[in-house]
Amino acid sequence: MNILFASSEVAPFIKTGGLADVAGSLPQALARKGHDVRVILPLYEGIKDEWRSQMTYLQNFNVHLAWRTPYCGLFELQKDGVTYYFVDNEYYFKRGGIYGHYDDGERFAFFSRAVIESPGHLGFWPDVIHCNDWQTALVPIYLLEERQRVPELINAKSVFTIHNIEYQGRYGREVLVDLFGLPDSYFHERMLSYYGDVNLLKGAIYAADYVTTVSPTYASELRYDFYAHGLAGVVSDNAHKIRGILNGIDVERYDPWKDQKLPMSFSAKQMKGKKACKAALQEMSGLEVRPDVPVIGCVSRLVSHKGFDLVVEALPEIMGMDVQMVVLGTGDWAYEEAFRNAAWQYPNRFSAQIMYSDAFSTAIYGGADIFLMPSIAEPCGLSQMIAMRYGTLPVVRETGGLKDSVQPYNQYTGEGTGFTFANADKGDMVWALRQAVDLYHGDQKAWKGLQKTAMTTDFSWDRSAGDYLEIYGWVTGK
Ligand code: GLC
Repeated sequence: MNILFASSEVAPFIKTGGLADVAGSLPQALARKGHDVRVILPLYEGIKDEWRSQMTYLQNFNVHLAWRTPYCGLFELQKDGVTYYFVDNEYYFKRGGIYGHYDDGERFAFFSRAVIESPGHLGFWPDVIHCNDWQTALVPIYLLEERQRVPELINAKSVFTIHNIEYQGRYGREVLVDLFGLPDSYFHERMLSYYGDVNLLKGAIYAADYVTTVSPTYASELRYDFYAHGLAGVVSDNAHKIRGILNGIDVERYDPWKDQKLPMSFSAKQMKGKKACKAALQEMSGLEVRPDVPVIGCVSRLVSHKGFDLVVEALPEIMGMDVQMVVLGTGDWAYEEAFRNAAWQYPNRFSAQIMYSDAFSTAIYGGADIFLMPSIAEPCGLSQMIAMRYGTLPVVRETGGLKDSVQPYNQYTGEGTGFTFANADKGDMVWALRQAVDLYHGDQKAWKGLQKTAMTTDFSWDRSAGDYLEIYGWVTGK
């Protein structure tokens, strides 16, 4: 099957969040199963020379974007069995920061036109165009007409994946014709119109041949307003073609036995190295180097939907236990301040690393004992899976992908891969944390059993890639 995978960020080239990890690993898994997969993304200023030097210039053409015909250059790079196309237009993409510009709607409409028009220039005819999040939401919509215009696309189908429904791409009605180049007839309730505005995510949910989201639980949560951010009705209306598929992670990259960035490697069979990783983490975080105290780690953007109100509120109770804690991340100033304060209040026991650092996150995944992730909403979440790979047991709220990936500890059978709680409530979270801490101090044998199960659970893409292929098969009939 020919698959064109469109994403506004793709690891390792450019990344702000989990979308990039998915776009960087799912296509490879599909390619390993014998499909011709090509990934297309913008050529941002932030893409390093290390990658640029490996690209080949292919060609350029002008895309059709309403009354404009902006330049579109295409560069190509081959990596791990996948072909990557980079869309070049310096006016749109030669800027600092990949999102957050006043004209993001126009920038990603341009990118979406490039996605739709590239097949004709490349002579690569996709059976499926797989798009992700609001930045490529116009692609399934453009495809409706492009199929009429371009005979080779007549059977091409679109699959659209929602990684986070909070970001929808909502603009004033005036952009529809003038900027996006769509006829006014697209402004109706079962397409783009949304309380008088244009809502791109809504349009994609209606226009796509199939819609997926990144965990089965999130797919069912999206029928509720609490999770759907105003699109619960749209999701329900399209429930017949929406399904949740749990993300995988790159299990080669996140392997404590092979990870060169760890001070000492370890595996489910050979856990000695984890002790050295813990000591190294304590050292670099300014925590007292003590092997017998559980270290709670957090790696996250410090924003409210990650559950940091609960964490901040619970700090006195958490630190009242015999634990150490290290928080890594940046975000809302109020949380950053609260954690800086905690570091000052609990010297040698609480460490606030207010920054974004790949090296430090590896140190936490590898060296901590407990990984705290109490998200209010979590479409999938990748860090809890990475933590489990490194034998760091997660404490999570039962929402979205957290619920689907962490099996709660059962004190009677000894089964489980972590600790969970249901309500977004401080007391419940502390209860789950206490359960973890008590087990750590009280029953090391049970603890080691959980670590082993967590580390050997299959989080690879191979499992989920098959589910995507099944959907591609349904929509194309191939
Ligand atoms: C978004 C979601 C996160 C998910 C990721 C990849 O970042 O917030 O939960 O893991 O996309 O799908």
